[in-house]
Amino acid sequence: MARAAIVVGVGAREGVGGAVCRRLGREGLVVYAAGRTAEKLDGVCDAIEGEGGSARPVVTDTTVESQVDALFETVRGAGDDLELTVYNAGNNHPGNLLSMETEYFEQAWRVCCLGGFLVGRGAARSMLPRGGTLVFTGATASVKARPPFLAFASAKWGLRALAQGMAREFGPQGLHVAHAIIDGGIDGEVLNSRFPEFKERVGAEGLLSPDAIADAYWTLHRRHRSAWTFEIDLRPFKETF
Ligand SMILES: NC(=O)c1ccc[n+]([C@@H]2O[C@H](COP(=O)([O-])OP(=O)(O)OC[C@H]3O[C@@H](n4cnc5c(N)ncnc54)[C@H](OP(=O)(O)O)[C@@H]3O)[C@@H](O)[C@H]2O)c1
Repeated sequence: MARAAIVVGVGAREGVGGAVCRRLGREGLVVYAAGRTAEKLDGVCDAIEGEGGSARPVVTDTTVESQVDALFETVRGAGDDLELTVYNAGNNHPGNLLSMETEYFEQAWRVCCLGGFLVGRGAARSMLPRGGTLVFTGATASVKARPPFLAFASAKWGLRALAQGMAREFGPQGLHVAHAIIDGGIDGEVLNSRFPEFKERVGAEGLLSPDAIADAYWTLHRRHRSAWTFEIDLRPFKETF
């Protein structure tokens, strides 16, 4: 039986999902990398195997219940011992409220909130009663709703509420549930390809390093159970807040 982790919301190698997967691979866990795009998952898994680790790509749309359930079943079927699950999927797109389509609002909720419920439930079912760690990736919008990101903020607030409630319900049963507020831009493929001017504007060290976020997640997982954490916030040193 191998020690294993599931990371949901894995895209480019240069992103939080990719960095967390690589970090867990280096720690000796079998990494189940889940996202919607097979080529991207293969890229992340190849990188892990190239560093001597073990990884399995599992194409999963986190908004589809049967696919999320199948993901956890894959780990169970392999006989691996799931000790850490990370929910990282998120879709931050600006949207003006007056012209916002209902479908747009609902889609933000599906990815950022419903997917978190499906994965959180699957993790609790798989990791209890043995215990383990469940980490949710949040954003500034998890605690501050600012236009034009109201759909995103409402979904991320929902995710945070889910995480907080799960921490209260399952902590005493041995499941360490944590929520990470990523309070700044991430120096990864998503931001650098969509908003290259943002990096220029904030200047050197103005963005969060995905590897540094991955370090923080690993530290959360390694916490002694006499000193668990529900919430951390991470931001570049020069970020005002
Ligand atoms: N980027 C930022 O500046 C920033 C700032 C603060 C917080 N965050 C949060 O950090 C997390 C992501 O970090 P990141 O920006 O570095 O991106 P990332 O970890 O590189 O990528 C997340 C991946 O999630 C996957 N995904 C999206 N919808 C999905 C779905 N329905 N089912 C399964 N996978 C899905 C996407 O890949 P596919 O499209 O291939 O599925 C995407 O590439 C999100 O929770 C985001 O809200 C980001």
